[in-house]
Amino acid sequence: MPAIRQLLVNGIARRIDADGSRSLLSVLRDDLELTGAKYGCGEGQCGACTVLLDSQPVRSCLLRLEQAAGKRITTIEGLEQDGRLHPVQEAFLETGAMQCGYCTPGMVLSAAALLGKNRNPTDPEIVRFMQGNICRCGVYPRILKAIRKAARNKSGRAGAA
Ligand code: FES
Ligand code: FES
Repeated sequence: MPAIRQLLVNGIARRIDADGSRSLLSVLRDDLELTGAKYGCGEGQCGACTVLLDSQPVRSCLLRLEQAAGKRITTIEGLEQDGRLHPVQEAFLETGAMQCGYCTPGMVLSAAALLGKNRNPTDPEIVRFMQGNICRCGVYPRILKAIRKAARNKSGRAGAA
């Protein structure tokens, strides 16, 4: 498998030298020291490893590096804009939508992707979209509340992803 030499992560072209068959998650965490994306199941079932690829949530544990090359990758470290947290990040903090926090980066990125395409989702739309993100602590009611709050806050902020 040919080596991949560059990745576009959080708006920055990062130089790497990694086999294209490696998982994106391992390269983000081990080569680029971006540890926000977590290793959970390693099988695409929990969403802890979620990052955005061209604004779409993907499971970086399953995605080969060669599939991510040339695309815009956003990790939780790059979601804020101009030093300001994304509305979803603010809402998660204000709502306390976490316990251990292990699922939180993936949850936040998936929710940001949802609000990027649907500014005012209904509760069933939120639940459906977020289904692939598992919270082992079970704080789903607060996560739902946070996403509702982010949708309200986001309507007042133009330009957020
Ligand atoms: S670690 Fe990727 S989906 Fe669970
Ligand atoms: S807050 Fe612990 S896994 Fe969700």
